[in-house]
This record gives sequence, C-alpha cells and structure tokens, in this order.
Amino acid sequence: MPDTLQHLFDNNRAWSRQMLEHDPCFFQKLSSQQAPEFLWIGCADSRVPANEITGLLPGELFVHRNVANLVYASDLNCLSVIEFAVNTLHIKHIIVCGHYGCGGVKAAMQQQTHGLIDNWLNGIRDTYARYEEELLAIPDLTARANRLCELNVITQVAQVARTSIVQEAWLRGQLLTVHGWIYGLNDGQTKDLDVCIDRLEQVNPLYRLVAATP
Ligand code: CO
Repeated sequence: MPDTLQHLFDNNRAWSRQMLEHDPCFFQKLSSQQAPEFLWIGCADSRVPANEITGLLPGELFVHRNVANLVYASDLNCLSVIEFAVNTLHIKHIIVCGHYGCGGVKAAMQQQTHGLIDNWLNGIRDTYARYEEELLAIPDLTARANRLCELNVITQVAQVARTSIVQEAWLRGQLLTVHGWIYGLNDGQTKDLDVCIDRLEQVNPLYRLVAATP
C-alpha cells in the first residue's frame, strides 16, 4: 500500500485552521485575487523557503525557483514567470536571492560530470571564468565557493535587467527594481549585495533596448 502522506494533510488542516483563527476571511480574500509586490527568483534548495525567510504570507510573494537561481534568456519557464509578474501582476521588485553553500555552485566548480545538470550550470562556469583572477586569489575553497555564490547572484541580476520584459517596463515608465540578495544557511539571514538596478541607464549599453519609434 502506498504511503499517502497523511501527516502532510494533517499539517495542512492544522495550518488552514490557524490561518482562519487569525483572519476568518483569509482564504476567501486570497481566492479572488493576488496582488504581490515582489517576485522571488531563488534556488530550489529546500533550506531556502522564500515566504518563511521573508516573513511574507501567501499572496505576497510570487516565486520562481530553480537550481542555483539562474536566469537564462532561453528559459521559457523563467521568462514566462517574469513576464506575468511584471506585465500582469505589476510587481515592483524582483529579488534574485542566492545562498551560501549552494550545491549547484559547488558542482559547477568541480571538473567532473553530474549528468544533465552540467548544461544547466554552465552559466555559473561562465561567471567563474569572468572572475577567475579574483576567485583564485581566495585560497580557502569554501570562501571561494561562497564568493562565487555572490558573483552568481550579481550576474543573474544583470541577466534579469537585460530581458526585454524588464526593459520594456522601464521604457513604459513602470517602477521596477531588481535586487540581488544572498542568504546564509548558517545564520538564517539575508544580506543585500547592493547591486540594485532600477532603470535602463544602469544597463550596459550593449544590452539596452531602444524605445520603438511611433
Ligand atoms: Co542552491
């Protein structure tokens, strides 16, 4: 007989009761609309739960997670999430949040195969190559990997800002800020990497779209 995971249903019932004690109309209100202000692009790692670590309720955070919080211009999944969040939900902030000790980042630093995921992680190898001098100057391998976790976030923030979705929003005058954060598995704290981008002028001209002439 398969395990039907009854304990998870029990948890769920207890949780929904608790939410209703706090606000009897909570689910009724949420079911009619969602109006989150934030899009979270984070790692799929089970230790980095977006809502919990930001203290946000259901309805307050739109979430996309994948291995090592990567944003590729060819990733239909991620781009669809960004498009819906920006164009339909009109979210005001996109938060790319990486984390120290990221297994995806560590795997990308190893010269061995991990299967299909090697292709996914190639973006991190590109970042490593770009910052190789800085990274090789860090002798401690854990510290080096953690710096690469930060550099990966910084790179993905730039990737988000290079999408036509975000640039067109800025050209329309929509308020939208892209943030880069990193989370510590050790202490449960998020840190702002101070790489906010909130306008087209901050994007390298080579990647900048020009407003269409009417
Ligand atoms: Co990770």
